[in-house]
Amino acid sequence: MSILLPGGIGYIGSHTAIELLQKGEDVVVIDNFSNSKPEMIEKIEKIAGKKIKFYEADYTDRNAVEKVFAENKIEAVINFAGYKAVAESVKEPLKYYYNNITGCIVLLETMKKYGVKKFIFSSSATVYGKPETVPITEEFKIGGTTNPYGTTKLMIEQILQDAYNADKTLDICILRYFNPVGAHESGLIGEEPQGIPNNLMPYVVRVASGELKELSVFGNDYNTHDGTGVRDYIHVVDLAKGHVNALEKLNKEGKGLYIYNLGTGKGTSVLDMVKAFEKTTGMKVPYKIVERRPGDIDECYADATKAEKELGWKAEKTIEDMCRDSWNYIKNRNL
Ligand code: UD1
Repeated sequence: MSILLPGGIGYIGSHTAIELLQKGEDVVVIDNFSNSKPEMIEKIEKIAGKKIKFYEADYTDRNAVEKVFAENKIEAVINFAGYKAVAESVKEPLKYYYNNITGCIVLLETMKKYGVKKFIFSSSATVYGKPETVPITEEFKIGGTTNPYGTTKLMIEQILQDAYNADKTLDICILRYFNPVGAHESGLIGEEPQGIPNNLMPYVVRVASGELKELSVFGNDYNTHDGTGVRDYIHVVDLAKGHVNALEKLNKEGKGLYIYNLGTGKGTSVLDMVKAFEKTTGMKVPYKIVERRPGDIDECYADATKAEKELGWKAEKTIEDMCRDSWNYIKNRNL
């Protein structure tokens, strides 16, 4: 039996593929390289010491997806495929709604045809919109997303809820990621945003490497300890391990729809991150304070106790680990 990873060559998918392979699972990946590169396959296999079965295909392509299910005994699907650039989603909303939602529906329909029940979905803390308080528990109301990317996550959560209500034999796990950063400690795989990065850590590493001149800190008048935005950064390897635990939960428990926050439970401000990065790597990160970025919120961090209690999972890596590994990846990449 194999685990199918649509988008398994991307940032979070590739780290999860490694964790699954290292646990002895067989992994089948569908990826169209829309935000990843073919050489990642070899790197994943090198780190894990095991091969994956790879299909270059688009997960919205019904025939291609069906072929994968017909040729493999799929036991569970962990869906990492999907567009994720916030600003682009505002400019091209239809592209985001079409891709993210169609892909998910094609997967669910094909699963139904082949009697596959287990589905793990990469959701995001973005579904909480602007939370009234922090830390955020899974019971907080969801909605009020500020961009089409976030709304696709919200819509897919609703689709999964409805699909489960209609078919209680499904085993669904929704994982709400906080802010994934870092890279594999081997330095072989990591985050590779195309063009100028939008997210904080990829921007910081490119300033440190000299590829970008300085970091723009978006606002220092937020209601936080130093005025800059506070987020819950989670190391991508911790996040990847959360999927392995979620899969174990579905294998043990079965028949249910489960929702978990995957975060550390700790808030880190933009300036905390800059300081930690400089201290850990010894590199300078020049910055200037600029206007707030529209849609940003003061604080967002998880109450991660539900995942700890029910999945037996807890994020272990520190902010220093995240800075060191992100930097290590970029250094290696530039060799
Ligand atoms: C963003 C997305 C979220 C997505 C997540 C993926 C929005 C509103 N949300 O979260 O949906 O799931 O990325 O990781 O875009 N910052 C700077 N300068 C920069 C970049 C960021 O000061 O050049 C600040 C931001 O204002 C924020 C913090 O750093 O306070 C984190 O920003 P970012 O990494 O973009 O993540 P989020 O906005 O939290």
